[in-house]
Amino acid sequence: MKPIIIVHGGAGDIPDSRVQGKLIGTKAAVIQGYEVLLKSGSALDAVEAAVVAMENDENFNAGYGSVLNLDGEVEMEASIMSGTNLDVGAVTLIKDFPNPISIAHKVLTDSPHSLLGGDGAKRFALAKGFSTVSPESLVSHNARKALQNFLKHGEFGRTEIGAQDKADVGTVGAVAVDSNGFVAVATSTGGMSGKAVGRIGDTPQIGSGTYADDNIGGVSTTGHGESILKYCLAHSVVKLMENGMDASTATKNAVMDMTQRLNNTAGAITLAKNGDVGVYFSSKRMSWAYVKEITPKNFKIFFGIEQDQILQEDYSSTE
Ligand code: GLY
Repeated sequence: MKPIIIVHGGAGDIPDSRVQGKLIGTKAAVIQGYEVLLKSGSALDAVEAAVVAMENDENFNAGYGSVLNLDGEVEMEASIMSGTNLDVGAVTLIKDFPNPISIAHKVLTDSPHSLLGGDGAKRFALAKGFSTVSPESLVSHNARKALQNFLKHGEFGRTEIGAQDKADVGTVGAVAVDSNGFVAVATSTGGMSGKAVGRIGDTPQIGSGTYADDNIGGVSTTGHGESILKYCLAHSVVKLMENGMDASTATKNAVMDMTQRLNNTAGAITLAKNGDVGVYFSSKRMSWAYVKEITPKNFKIFFGIEQDQILQEDYSSTE
């Protein structure tokens, strides 16, 4: 089949000042992932590449630019899943590695475990050859400002970074189906601004932030972690598709139902195993993008950030 990849750059109350940076970063990330697929790379490698691009970009709440906990520290989480054997890898409470998704991928391939946290995750990463950076080097000016504003008048959980700080950023994720029909999903986050030290959200929890099944499709989610994990949002979308619903309707129905029941917002991106796309968010904004081959060697990027917005651009591959 024709490979396909979709990414999101986080749902939230994203202020106007952050829209352009997010759109540019989201399109750049989807291209990174798509180039892996065009070189016959695996869906797992493609979603990792797309997420690494956003972890390295300050416009997103993952890797460098992650939001801060109450002690002013970055504490990151990530998960990755292969739909083929339902293999998973996840990490949490990561403070001094720039790309948690790459460590999560190593947990998937090189560990008998599924989720490693804190000191144990650090030991594992060092043993696998990852290098630390100073925790301060991952703290951005915007994240610091957001925590200051949160401490003054924030309410935990209203958005990923606090509604009043004009610096909203978001969790990132990617879903791919490669030319063999293998499905993979990756999600990475700094969590929510002003979170308690040691708080673990939805992103590293399989079925909440991430789910993949070659027989059905894959989903990555973003938004209010405590709600997403109670609802098992990613798996809920997959279950609706398993019961015959198309990717777009399943994504919309699950996000809307979670929002109504738990009174917090979220977003999700979905690919069915045949490449059909689902994008939906109940927050004000969520950046997303996917690449599709329209006719042989004629590619288009579809993208957006506002409700009901679908923009498109031609894209020339280097392949
Ligand atoms: N969805 C990101 C978090 O709540 O941790």
